Amino acid sequence: MDFELNEEQREIWRWAKEFADKEIMPRVEENDKKAEFDWDLYKKIAAQGFFGAVLPEKYGGQGVDFIAYALMTEEIARACSSTRTLFSVQISLVELPILKFGTEDQKMKYLPKLATGEIIGCFGLTEPNAGSDAANQQTTAKQDGDYFILNGQKTWISNGSIANLAIVIAQADKSLGHKGICAFLVETDTPGFSARPIAPKLGLKSSDTSELFLDNVRVHKDQMLGKFGEGFKVAMYCLDQGRFSVAAGAVGVMQGCIDISKKYAMERQAFGQKIGEFQMIQQMVADMVADCEAGRFLVLRAAYLKSKGVRNTRETSLAKLFCAEGAHRAAHSAVQIFGGYGFSEEYPAARYFRDGRVLSLYEGTSQIHRLIIAQDELGIRPANGPGSPATTFDRLSGLYPEQPAPSMV
Ligand code: CAA
Repeated sequence: MDFELNEEQREIWRWAKEFADKEIMPRVEENDKKAEFDWDLYKKIAAQGFFGAVLPEKYGGQGVDFIAYALMTEEIARACSSTRTLFSVQISLVELPILKFGTEDQKMKYLPKLATGEIIGCFGLTEPNAGSDAANQQTTAKQDGDYFILNGQKTWISNGSIANLAIVIAQADKSLGHKGICAFLVETDTPGFSARPIAPKLGLKSSDTSELFLDNVRVHKDQMLGKFGEGFKVAMYCLDQGRFSVAAGAVGVMQGCIDISKKYAMERQAFGQKIGEFQMIQQMVADMVADCEAGRFLVLRAAYLKSKGVRNTRETSLAKLFCAEGAHRAAHSAVQIFGGYGFSEEYPAARYFRDGRVLSLYEGTSQIHRLIIAQDELGIRPANGPGSPATTFDRLSGLYPEQPAPSMV
């Protein structure tokens, strides 16, 4: 077993850390206050090539592995969860699904532009009446010759108002249930497509979160992502990717909370000493560090499985659940360590607290992840697909030595 990063992973981690400290950190407070998307920062991220991180070179990417991608994501989130959301959606919810399910034409048409940041993507699954129950899609796709006509509404869509390209999940044949669902690549300048930002929000204030409206949007059948009826599988694949990056982002939130808390605890004086010298503060610091490191290992195990091309829905759910809840605990402790100043927007603890709250809501609530994990453990529904009951895998690596799990990164 090898815990060491290779030279490339270490270098990418350093690169992302430096960028986060130099370019993101100095803007985060102002962006949060202005509650606006920072286009200038967006251009800087794009110029670094970050959006192409995991894509193969053939599509304009750099082909970094999922371990390096997790570490980059963590660093961005340590500085700013709004920026991390932008980064995660572009890569995990848009690029990777196109890479997995797209035709060669679709890949060549969109991936290089997504990689350079020339276009922004979003993922339209959630609807006013289809949140946790994702299969209950009300958006319809009606075939009309070579076209599909999309009608419906999406909500809580990150990047929704700034996107040029949306993956839209829609029901094409209700009689087939989730097997009638299809996924489409919809260019957002298509007539009938519109978006409206959701504001004000509790956190993620400089991330765009929007509603999407589809009013007789005509999409050519060549824009279908995956096959007819494969849309729910595409959506679940998107979530397997997105949840992984949310988990990595939550590690960044935990690390950010540790960083600000230890600095404050070793400066602030009370009863004639630094508050960090009190054991009750030390207990909070120790718990934050334990959560953060355990979470990072869960993320890196999922990353390891992804890089091996092994299905990892279970391991990703474990990482997402633990890290999101750990980020809540860490942000709660950071506010507590800052005392009254933790309640002030003039100090960073409040922002981590607000921004961290969404981590157990989007991309599957903690309840959904508990359901996925428990039903797998109880043998009710194997999370990693048929032939992958929890009992057959190696509990440490997550690999299935006797019975290889169906390959779905
Ligand atoms: N990968 C591939 N296939 C999968 C899968 C996965 N991860 N999960 C399920 N499937 C397949 C199943 O194998 C099954 O296939 P068959 O019919 O061929 O057997 C099919 O999909 C249906 O599966 P279920 O019966 O398990 O489906 P369900 O309706 O009971 O739902 C669920 C399961 C886990 C609850 C799912 O609905 C779910 O994950 N819900 C939460 C949705 C969610 O996370 N939403 C967040 C939205 S994204 C967002 O936040 C926006 C943003 O911009 C950030």
